[in-house]
Amino acid sequence: HFLTNADIMGLHMIFLQESLLTTNSQNPTSALKSFELLIEIRANSSKAWYGKGKALDKLSEAQKSNEILKEAIAAYVKAIEFGSSLDDAIFKVYAVQCIERMRFIGQHLNAVPVHKALIERFNDDPYYRNQLAVTYLLANRLADAKLVLHETLLRWRRDGFALAHYGFVLKNLDKNYEAATVFLQEGIDSEAEGTNDGRFYFSLGEAMTRLGRNKEAMEVYRKGASKKLFLSEYQRSLYNVDRLKSRPFWTKKETNYVRYLDVLEQNWERIRDEGLSVLNDEGHFTDESENLRDIGDWKQFDLFTRGRKINKHCEKVPFTCKIIETFPAARFCKRGQVKFSVMHPGTHVWPHCGPTNCRIRVHLGLKVPEKTSIRVANKTRSWKEGKLLIFDDSFEHEVWHNGTTVRLVLIVDVWHPDLTELERTNLYPI
Ligand code: LMR
Ligand code: MN
Repeated sequence: HFLTNADIMGLHMIFLQESLLTTNSQNPTSALKSFELLIEIRANSSKAWYGKGKALDKLSEAQKSNEILKEAIAAYVKAIEFGSSLDDAIFKVYAVQCIERMRFIGQHLNAVPVHKALIERFNDDPYYRNQLAVTYLLANRLADAKLVLHETLLRWRRDGFALAHYGFVLKNLDKNYEAATVFLQEGIDSEAEGTNDGRFYFSLGEAMTRLGRNKEAMEVYRKGASKKLFLSEYQRSLYNVDRLKSRPFWTKKETNYVRYLDVLEQNWERIRDEGLSVLNDEGHFTDESENLRDIGDWKQFDLFTRGRKINKHCEKVPFTCKIIETFPAARFCKRGQVKFSVMHPGTHVWPHCGPTNCRIRVHLGLKVPEKTSIRVANKTRSWKEGKLLIFDDSFEHEVWHNGTTVRLVLIVDVWHPDLTELERTNLYPI
């Protein structure tokens, strides 16, 4: 052989050094070539794989390509796989980068083995277990998150991050409101990093409300508002645009959509008849699914959700959908829905807030018996047949039906009038 092993090692190190420099300077394409060459010489060089990952990562950013990002992630995974002899500090950088990119692209469950490698290496630091729990939560795997958090709390009983997240899972997965309040409260009170988060205040308040502890819930909400986690104690949506005008109830005029809203009112009887025809035709309405009902029966029939038309449903109520299609702020409201909402006698909907302040919720009363009402913030109103009731559902609202026949309304979410066209186009759907 022309070169000794030591020579190859030395060359390898020089190469590596240079390639890393190239990655950092603005030329990921040539860096990528260098790293690929290196990998040909030493296929199990963790550093070379990481360098390749970084170069691809940069390329993916420049080209806005998810495919290249996936290749970058695959290279990071190799770097970690061959990384057992790396220093702790370097291994950590590699793994954290890999997890961050996986989260970014939504490959949450692929991050699990990476988290596990970190946990194994840094077994005495609860941080890495907590990060695994976050990944499970991002993947909507609440039961898995619960398991990890539980184990963490067995060893680190006062870990504020784990306490808050565990309470969050107890509330939202198990609906164990008693236990949830204890953990959420202790987590928030710890003031540990990651606990100053509207979701924990939101969940704690809701759990208290479900236990009948409304006064305490309001205190939690006030505290959340004072920490700017909520827009106000009553307006607790978490996906907001800041400058938008807020008020609980709106008039037609305040929305700036008078001429469209008039069309809804003028045609209310035909809309009602379409709504009633699907209602009588069993099995089209589906149960409210967000765990908002205390007691009773409350169902909906969606026509548009997140700005998308549900053709199958619109075929059943063509007149109503046609009207909505002439009303752009409703038709293309990506942060809302258009739907018929039917509520049966004996229903109570818990106080709750919608997710965003970007929409205004318009109700067109279609069948309105006595003893039905809605509270928004601190004012309670009722519907009238053929009339609109307009409110901002990011404010806390609560609904009662103590009458004897069904209540039917058409719900039409519209873009908040203060949003620009550009914002309406660019805001991601909710
Ligand atoms: C709500 O938006 O939560 C309710 O007002 C819906 C309804 O049917 O009353
Ligand atoms: Mn609501």
